[in-house]
This record gives sequence, structure tokens and C-alpha cells, in this order.
Amino acid sequence: MSDVVAAVGPIAPRPEPLLRVDGLWVTFGARPENKRDAVRNVDLRVESGEVIGLVGESGSGKSLTALAVMQLLPPGARATSGRIMFDGIDLLALKRRAMNERRGRDIAMIFQDPLTALNPTIPIGRQIYDCIRTHDDIGRQAGIARVEELLELVGIPHPHERARAYAHELSGGMRQRVMTALAIACRPKLLIADEPTTALDVTVQAQIMKMLDRIRRELGIAVLFISHNLDLVSEICDRTYVMYAGSIVESGAVETLFDAPRHPYTRQLLRCIPRLDWTVGPMSTIPGLPPRLGTLPPGCPFAPRCEAAEPRCSDEKPPIWREPASGSGHMAVCWRAA
Ligand SMILES: Nc1ncnc2c1ncn2[C@@H]1O[C@H](COP(=O)(O)OP(=O)(O)O)[C@@H](O)[C@H]1O
Ligand SMILES: [Mg+2]
Repeated sequence: MSDVVAAVGPIAPRPEPLLRVDGLWVTFGARPENKRDAVRNVDLRVESGEVIGLVGESGSGKSLTALAVMQLLPPGARATSGRIMFDGIDLLALKRRAMNERRGRDIAMIFQDPLTALNPTIPIGRQIYDCIRTHDDIGRQAGIARVEELLELVGIPHPHERARAYAHELSGGMRQRVMTALAIACRPKLLIADEPTTALDVTVQAQIMKMLDRIRRELGIAVLFISHNLDLVSEICDRTYVMYAGSIVESGAVETLFDAPRHPYTRQLLRCIPRLDWTVGPMSTIPGLPPRLGTLPPGCPFAPRCEAAEPRCSDEKPPIWREPASGSGHMAVCWRAA
């Protein structure tokens, strides 16, 4: 737990979270006949210093949710409704220039493929140095020292020598560390990590998870960790949101979701966790496919693939169930959650 959270205490969170997404919709297509909603009414919050997971199968809208927060949505996609409050400021109302200043300085993002974010022609140390200098009026010596500190923090051995390397000279895991150093160079309050370990092998994945955990503990940076692997999420996250077909279907403390999931989708996802002992055969997947954008059934979007579906699940929108007693924040959108 970070110092920030420790000082406030887990039972008395600050009244306004660091990031608060309320009723976010992200839509492709402008005309009614070709409108497709990719993110549907998403609520999400991240407190200072927290590590929050966002999980779901490919295509569930995780990246678009993150890109909406960064205001880096792809062409054709728009945040059509909702509010994104960050540190007391409504990001959707910010002018482009004001947002550009926040991006990098206050919120930073790392992606699955670091090569697209790293410049192949500039040594990595120099890239980090330049990044620090754009946001911070720091002297040359202090800047170089900060670069080496950052490389050290993300677990790059011999930072003094490694700073001169080019991106292509590094392994995938090392590149991911460099990209992380670049992202946290200006001490953002929030780091969004979108499937940062998906392209890496299992051992390197574990190392990157350790690195993210260290960043959170040593710098108190909040992390929104996006993954399709619930097992990875459980390693470092405090709470997790589970997304299906553009909507949050369940959220709560990681232990709760693991031990007592209320949504059949979460339960079925948990069974898809890849095991190290592959002797039991290929990894199981949830049968069937998520609905295509713009073709949601009238009831629960998961009903056609749900092992526990009842007749009403296909016809009627499921209610939101919330854990009544404690303030754990456990919720699920399912007819059978109660
Ligand atoms: N640039 C794009 N153009 C059209 N559709 C897109 C684009 N990006 C994402 N989508 C669609 O939006 C949905 C959600 O995508 P995304 O947020 O990338 O999912 P995830 O990150 O959970 O895998 C998917 O159905 C995807 O096909
Ligand atoms: Mg994605």
C-alpha cells in the first residue's frame, strides 16, 4: 500500500477519487444508422496510489475506455456521454492544449508494444532526458542523474551504460521497462498500463508485474492495469473491474472476485486462466463469441454464452446488485447475483 493511501487509511478514502469516470459512452459512427457503441455507461474510480485492474476478453472495450481518459481515441470514435474527472478537473471539457499538458505530466500510458512508442534513432537515455526536460526545468547534470535513477527503478541493470542503447538493441521486456521509465519520468499521478505484458513470456511478465508494483510502492503512482488475464491482475491489484461487451459487469476487491465472484462471466473467465502445468490440455476458453458492436441482445449481453442463464436473462436487462452490508464496493450486473 502506498504512503498516500496508508496516511489516509483504507476506511476513510478521500472524498473525491483521483480518477472518476461516470456514465462513459464511446461510440463509433456519427449517423444513427451506423452508430455502434463500444463503451456503454462505464463507471470507474481510482483512488490516489491504488492499483486497479480492468479485465475482459479482447474486444470488450478496455483500451477504448483508457484511450477516452487519455483523450487519444482513434478516428471515428467519440466520447458521446459521461464525465471523466481527474484530480478535480473534467477532462472531457478541457481544451486540446490543456489536455496535452496533463498527458504525460499527470496521466501517462504504456502499451503492449513499446517499439511503437520509442524512437528508434535516439538512445533511450536521451529520450527519457528529453521527456523530463519538456515538463520540468531541470539542469543537465540533474537530468542525467534522474534518467539513471529511473532506469534503476524500472530494473534496468547498469543504467549508466544502458542509457546509450537504442530500442532495437533491447529485449522486449527491457523495452517495456524503458517505456515505463519514460511514462513515469514526470511523476504522473496515474499510470495506465494497457496489456503491458501480453507480448512477453511468462517469466518476463512476472518481472514486469514486480516492476509495476515497485513503482506504485516507491512513487505512490496509481496504476490502472488492463489485462485479459485475471490471474496477473490478482497479483498486484487492489480492486478490479470486469468488462464485457462494453459494460462493467462486475467489480470489487480482487480477493472477493476470486473467492466469491457473482457474475457467471467472471467465474467463466477465472476458468480460462492459463496454468503452468499444461498437462491437462489446451487452455479452456469461454464457448461462443462476444456480441458484435451494435447488435446487443435485449437482455443481458452475456446471456447467449452464460452457463447459468435463465429465460428472463435473454429478454430483460439485468439489475445492478450491490453487496449490501459492507462498504466493499462489490457489484455485479446479473439477475442471479443476489
Ligand atoms: N479504430 C477502431 N475502429 C473501429 N472499431 C474499433 C476501433 N478500435 C476498437 N474498435 C472496436 O471497439 C471494440 C472495443 O475495442 P477495444 O477497446 O480495443 O477492446 P479491448 O481493449 O477490450 O480488446 C471492439 O469491438 C473493436 O473492434
Ligand atoms: Mg485492448
